[in-house]
Amino acid sequence: WRATSKSPPPPSASTPSWLRVASKSKKMPSKSESCAVLTAAGSGSRLCCEGPKALVELSGRPLVWWAARGLRAGGVGAIVVTAPASSIEEFRSALSDIDDLTVVAGSDRSRQESVALGLAALGRCEADTVVLVHDAARPLTPPQVTARVIDAVRGGAGAVIPVLPVTDTLKTVDAAGVVVGTPRRSDMVAVQTPQGFRWDVLIRAHEEGASLGADEARAATDDAGLVEAIGGTVHTVAGDERSMKVTRPLDLALAQILVAEETSA
Ligand code: C5P
Repeated sequence: WRATSKSPPPPSASTPSWLRVASKSKKMPSKSESCAVLTAAGSGSRLCCEGPKALVELSGRPLVWWAARGLRAGGVGAIVVTAPASSIEEFRSALSDIDDLTVVAGSDRSRQESVALGLAALGRCEADTVVLVHDAARPLTPPQVTARVIDAVRGGAGAVIPVLPVTDTLKTVDAAGVVVGTPRRSDMVAVQTPQGFRWDVLIRAHEEGASLGADEARAATDDAGLVEAIGGTVHTVAGDERSMKVTRPLDLALAQILVAEETSA
């Protein structure tokens, strides 16, 4: 699963058309451009292995590389990747061909805390800077989704999430597994990343929710949840099925099929 175990294919030949970067900018973005925290500090235990999930390979490149390339193709400037503290150098090496990208240690306590560490590493931005938070576990998010999220924040929203309709009926259950409710399916959506925010909104949400981050059971599983908790309005844009989260082996197999189909097209 290690990124260094195979030599990577040339990006132009292996990258699906929807992920190709039009032009690679060498300049540092100004603070008014969009930036992103790419969370990659989780483990791969549900996927295949004990190492970092984000270094599991998809068509010769680690998941985190695909996710970072996709963000850049969607118009994102500076990217901070939160990696497991013990694997920082492996991540730097795996991402060395992507410019304006920094790898920092994430948290082993919760995703929420990893995001907070990533935001701190981005440094202080203008209040209206667009900041995205994206999961490295979503390697194939089309740049159009990222662009939609950025546009919606630039258009005046404080918080924006990409969503899809749910196809399964969902139930709420109690601690014993007994069903206690059936929310109307038409009222529910499945939430993806990247989630986008005005900088000031996301920073306040993380500051006010910081005490939850030390405990995985209480921590927010997405950043929009922290905005909701401070009374903020969260808007939605259309997500995309290709933005699926790679969690289990079946997800990785599907991602491999998607890359193979696109690169042969
Ligand atoms: O665990 P889950 O699948 O919800 O993780 C979503 C994303 O958050 C993954 O990209 C994972 O690497 C990241 N994460 C993190 N720090 C943690 C836990 C998860 O950066 N402590």
